[in-house]
Amino acid sequence: MNGFTYSYPITVYFGEKAAAKNMAAELNKYGKTVMLAYGGGSIKKNEIYDEMMKLLKDTGKTVVEFSGIMSNPTYEKVQEGARLAKENSVDFILAVGGGSVIDCCKIVSAQARMDEDIWEAEYGKGSQPTEFIPMGAIVTAFGTGAEMNNGAVITNEDKMLKSPLWGAFYDFAVLDPEYTMTMPMKQVLSGSFDTLSHCMETYLGSPRDTNLSDEINEAVMRSVIKNIRATRNDPSDKFARSELIWASAMGENGILKLGKVTDFQAHMIEHQVGAYTDCNHGQGLAVIHPVLYRHIYKSAPEQFARLAENVWGISPDGKTREQLALEGIEALASFIKEVGLPTSFTEMNISPDTDWRAVAGSTIITPGCCKKLTQDEIYEILKECI
Ligand code: NZQ
Ligand code: ZN
Repeated sequence: MNGFTYSYPITVYFGEKAAAKNMAAELNKYGKTVMLAYGGGSIKKNEIYDEMMKLLKDTGKTVVEFSGIMSNPTYEKVQEGARLAKENSVDFILAVGGGSVIDCCKIVSAQARMDEDIWEAEYGKGSQPTEFIPMGAIVTAFGTGAEMNNGAVITNEDKMLKSPLWGAFYDFAVLDPEYTMTMPMKQVLSGSFDTLSHCMETYLGSPRDTNLSDEINEAVMRSVIKNIRATRNDPSDKFARSELIWASAMGENGILKLGKVTDFQAHMIEHQVGAYTDCNHGQGLAVIHPVLYRHIYKSAPEQFARLAENVWGISPDGKTREQLALEGIEALASFIKEVGLPTSFTEMNISPDTDWRAVAGSTIITPGCCKKLTQDEIYEILKECI
């Protein structure tokens, strides 16, 4: 393993009624004006909004609402939130939603405490924000693990880029399975596949020989696969869902990444597909992963073979490493089909006339991927995904 420093700033409250049990004490640590941030309104239908409002009123807070945060949050929306936070001298942000709301608020929290444009600061000058409005996250849709890190994926529509920005860590995160029971099955599947993707992209990074982080990761991946099947068979299975929520957090809380340079090439490709098509993140990954892996597995056959044997349970008997590796990739592709995730961009209603050259040309090439792809190879991969 590579050397590392490990420290973790986020308090996680996991389990049923975690908000009722813990949030008053948390909210009492912060000032009076709270920004309640949420998406397109699912929290009003499933009554999480009412519960949060009551908690905020009971702790004497003045509430400023920041609503309408869209999936694949835009930079414009970040700026709207930052203006609102500044104008109202917000003391604390409560983000209630999935990865999109949680990401958007990380950057709102930073932008509201700085005068210069955060995109220019981070990408133009290479500087990182140092002051933030404190925040709490209430997870209503799992998969991204966004509540566990300080990176946010933001769509800059002017620049046609969906790129990471670095903002604040949450001070606390509430993970209550009950809040996720109303997630549409499409989102349960795409979110859970996102978790599996985070695990695979971490596992397939370097160094390429096995280590403790990888062995923990194998257990998480097996759990995700098992519990996707269980949740799909019985959407009311709260145990399976709670396992998926914790797996989602495990994917991004740093534990699996210790001592590793991660891969994340599938993510970089998907993010740019998202920049051009505004597609669903987990679904895009489901289409890209098998195609990408068929292109690259020969550059790290041992890693792919280990994944096939230890995660997909494929016997190595009588097979070369390459054969075993490829069987693992085909097991992944079959699983995607079996659970009803899309297998092509066409199934996702993405136009075949999308400017694939531009998508490929703007995709970041990652240092941890076993094969250093060219923009032409990415173009070929994208064409195969159509
Ligand atoms: O907007 P509302 O009305 O709340 O509806 C949302 C949205 O339509 C709905 N939803 C959420 N909780 C629900 C619910 N519907 C019913 N009941 C509930 N309990 O679900 C839809 C999708 O929500 P969204 O937050 O967009 O999905 P997800 O959690 O998949 O987040 C996707 C975003 O996260 C980024 C993605 O790129 C994308 O922008 N990611 C962030 C990461 C990070 N910061 O670490 C890592 C990931 O790789 C990813 O890139
Ligand atoms: Zn992801």
